[in-house]
Amino acid sequence: MISRYIERFSTRERVLHWFVTVTFFTLLLSGLGLYSRLFTGYFNLFGNGINAILVHKIAGVLFFVSSVLLFLDNRTRVTEFDEDDREWFRQGGGYLTREDSNLAVGKFNAGQKMFAVFIGLATLILGITGMFIWAPALFPRWIVQLSLMLHGLMFVGSIMFVVVHVYLATIGNPGTLEAMLWGRVSRAWAKHHHPKWYKEVTRENQ
Ligand code: HEM
Repeated sequence: MISRYIERFSTRERVLHWFVTVTFFTLLLSGLGLYSRLFTGYFNLFGNGINAILVHKIAGVLFFVSSVLLFLDNRTRVTEFDEDDREWFRQGGGYLTREDSNLAVGKFNAGQKMFAVFIGLATLILGITGMFIWAPALFPRWIVQLSLMLHGLMFVGSIMFVVVHVYLATIGNPGTLEAMLWGRVSRAWAKHHHPKWYKEVTRENQ
C-alpha cells in the first residue's frame, strides 16, 4: 500500500536545524542586553551580565558551527536559482493573489533559498565580527568599531528574517512544521507546496 507520507528531512538534518534554533534564541536572549541598555533586564535570565556574556560566547561558537553545517548540507539546493525561481519572484511567490498559482517549486521555494543564503552569510559575518569583539585589544580600533556595527546590523536582519520564517513554517502554512518535527510530510502538502520536488522524489521511488 502506498503511504500517505513522504520523507522530507533526515534525522541529522532535523537535529541540526533544532540545534541551530536553540542556539539562535539563546544568542538572542543573552545578546539583547549587550545590544541596548533598554534590554539589560534580560541579563537576569542568566544571573548577571558576566554570565550572559559567557553564555553568548559559548552559544556563538555552537551556533556558528551548526549553522555552517546546516548550510553546507543544503548548499546546492539553496544556491542554484533557475527559471522557475525567477518566475516565483515575478509572481511574488503566489502570496499576492487568492488564485491558485501554478508555480513549479522544487524542494525549497525561491524565498526559502533566499532565507537560507542570508542566514549562511549572516552566520559568517556574525562569527567573524564576533571574534574581533571577543578580543578587542588584539585588533585595531577601527576593525572593532566596524565589527560592532556589522554585528548589530546582522542581528537585526536575522531576527527579521527568522520572524517571517517561523510564521511561514507554522501557522502560515499548516502541515509544514511536521516536516521538521517528524521528518515527513503528507503527499497532499508536497503536491501543493513543492510540486516539482514531489515529482522528483516519487519518480525516484518507482
Ligand atoms: C521556532 C523556530 C523555528 C521553527 C518553528 C522552524 C521551522 C522550520 C520548518 C518547519 C522548516 C522546513 C520547511 C519546509 O519543509 O519547507 C524549516 C527549515 C529551515 N529553517 Fe527553520 N524554524 C525555526 C527556526 C529557525 C532558525 C532560528 C533558523 C536559522 C537561524 C532556521 C533555519 C532554517 C533553514 C535554513 C531551513 C531550510 C531552508 C528553508 O526553509 O528556508 N530555522 N524551519
